[in-house]
Amino acid sequence: MKTFEVELGERSYPIHIGAGLLSRADLLAPHVAGRQVMVITNETVAPLYLETLRKSLSGFDVHECILPDGEAHKTLSTAEKIFEALLAVPCDRQVTLVALGGGVIGDITGFVAGCYQRGVPFLQVPTTLLAQVDSSVGGKTAVNSRLGKNMIGLFYQPRCVLADTDTLSTLPARELAAGTAEVIKTALIRDSSLFEWLEINVHNLIGLDAAIVAEAVARCCDIKAAVVAEDERESGVRALLNLGHTFGHAIETGLGHGAWLHGEAVAAGICMAADLSVRSGLIREDERARIEALIVAAGLPSRAPAGLSVERFRSLMKVDKKALGGNVRLVLLNAIGDAFVSADFAQDLLDQTLEAMRAA
Ligand code: NAD
Ligand code: GLY
Repeated sequence: MKTFEVELGERSYPIHIGAGLLSRADLLAPHVAGRQVMVITNETVAPLYLETLRKSLSGFDVHECILPDGEAHKTLSTAEKIFEALLAVPCDRQVTLVALGGGVIGDITGFVAGCYQRGVPFLQVPTTLLAQVDSSVGGKTAVNSRLGKNMIGLFYQPRCVLADTDTLSTLPARELAAGTAEVIKTALIRDSSLFEWLEINVHNLIGLDAAIVAEAVARCCDIKAAVVAEDERESGVRALLNLGHTFGHAIETGLGHGAWLHGEAVAAGICMAADLSVRSGLIREDERARIEALIVAAGLPSRAPAGLSVERFRSLMKVDKKALGGNVRLVLLNAIGDAFVSADFAQDLLDQTLEAMRAA
């Protein structure tokens, strides 16, 4: 097992990464506040892992809330169902919520934990690659609106992240690829050696080679823990973690949440950011080609869907948490491993990217 600490003063917490951790009662119990626990999961993950988790929490009064599966359910109305499940027990303000699942479950559980009785503790038990390398760490919680992705939410940190890499063995190949998009993103913003490692190992990563998966999760969590410790509320460096996301969120909202996986939309978004970086004279064409080749090798899309017009894309990009005063801000690349936030890219170059980077 590897452990990293997210250093946030008295709200610091550990990220444990390793095989078989779901059975480790000793890692979970210290972070449970009172007697009551509510596990939030979904109908896909529950039959696979809920029983093992329940055994590890056997000393507590454990309740469960099993949601329908999918991004389309990451909504206020689903959150309300969780609030009502908590109130029906009734759960008091010492209840600990446990998010068992991917980023959808993690995001909505964190949102509910931050709001229920003005805030109760929660633990992240991520079971997708995307959630283990990114979404479970850092306390970004949210639900979607029909008009914008992740637009309703709060920063609210978990008490612990327990990433059992064995759970990835049941993950569909398409979901593994989607998680790989966030690994590639992490490398591109901060770590060129991770990018080079991925160029060699991406097939083993999506092929679920245990050592390669464990290394990818650990390297990403190490970087994410440092970024979050430096800039918890995204006033600076943390915004870099959104590389590809302004494009990607426009794709997700434009197609309807759930049509493309988040990681797929981010993958196309990364290629669009790389294309704009070339047009802006920031990176070379051969660097862009390496980025696209890695995305394609991971089995991910490198182009936006054909159906979104440039006008629609542009208006969707304005509904973005990085936009300030209606001005879109984008994460661009100075080099592989070196990203920055730009507010003064040329609009005509962005239009060229939107036009050129649509699937035929
Ligand atoms: P997801 O939560 O929808 O999970 C993907 C699919 O895999 C689902 O069908 C799920 O039921 C299933 N699944 C989960 N674990 C499984 C397992 N071990 N075996 C078999 N099936 C399993 O999607 P995701 O990719 O994990 O997360 C995407 C979400 O995360 C998006 O809503 C995105 O906005 C959010 N996100 C949040 C952050 C953040 O910082 N909070 C960062 C990145 C992404
Ligand atoms: N996934 C982006 C962040 O956590 O900041």
